[in-house]
Amino acid sequence: SQLTDVPLTSYCKSKESCELIQRALMNNDYMKHLEDRQILTIVDCMYPTSVAKGCCVIQEGDVGSTVYVLEEGTVEVTKQGKKVCTMGPGKVFGELAVLYNCTRTASVTALTDIKLWGIDRHGFQTIMMRTGLIKHSQY
Ligand code: CMP
Repeated sequence: SQLTDVPLTSYCKSKESCELIQRALMNNDYMKHLEDRQILTIVDCMYPTSVAKGCCVIQEGDVGSTVYVLEEGTVEVTKQGKKVCTMGPGKVFGELAVLYNCTRTASVTALTDIKLWGIDRHGFQTIMMRTGLIKHSQY
């Protein structure tokens, strides 16, 4: 079908990075209920990116389209200028706007130079639809 033929791009990554992303997804309240093959496909499709110390990764109120997994460094989460928490390697963030089609619920700022993995809304939704269709076609 049209939906299952949408191409997904996979990005080469080390075994350690694959394991970090997989653990991060499985430890996230909103992602841990995904099927194993959905998690493995997300791991495969995440692309590498980096942000310099002090820079904003996510701005509260913006339209968001990327889910991130932090691989190296520390970020700070703030809401209306007030600190909510800091997060280190192995954490997912930016999932709420993509899962719930809402604007960004908080700002996320790099406290150090950071390395992270990202997947955009299009790739994420393709994975959800594709695996849903595969499951459906088995019955
Ligand atoms: P999103 O709303 O897409 O973008 C901001 C992100 O900050 C959000 O997804 C969550 O990943 C994260 N976030 C929002 N509120 C909190 C909170 N209270 N504690 C920890 N992380 C949060």
